[in-house]
Amino acid sequence: AYVVTENCIRCKYMDCVEVCPVDCFYAGENFLVISPEECIDCGVCEPECPAEAIFPDSDDRSTDWIEINAELSKSWPNITRKENTPSDADEWNGKPDKKDMLSR
Ligand code: SF4
Ligand code: F3S
Repeated sequence: AYVVTENCIRCKYMDCVEVCPVDCFYAGENFLVISPEECIDCGVCEPECPAEAIFPDSDDRSTDWIEINAELSKSWPNITRKENTPSDADEWNGKPDKKDMLSR
């Protein structure tokens, strides 16, 4: 499966949800996750993310985020359409150490 990682936090651009053929994104307040049970590994979401936050689970950058995607995709609501992005999304793009800001 593909995995949403740290740089999505507070960016939440949601371009990814528009292209997913199986609608397997789930949304929290400031972060999105992918359901590993539903993702078909097509890879089309990866280049769509302006924050470059999506990687395959085989990528080292996914390691800390695999369990978080699996867990939160079970409790967060499904999202299939892009909504309004945070007004300060661009300011958070690329900022380090956002993990503690993840709103569950
Ligand atoms: Fe959806 Fe394909 Fe991305 Fe998986 S890899 S989340 S199926 S767009
Ligand atoms: Fe997040 Fe990128 Fe999607 S910032 S909401 S993974 S387009």
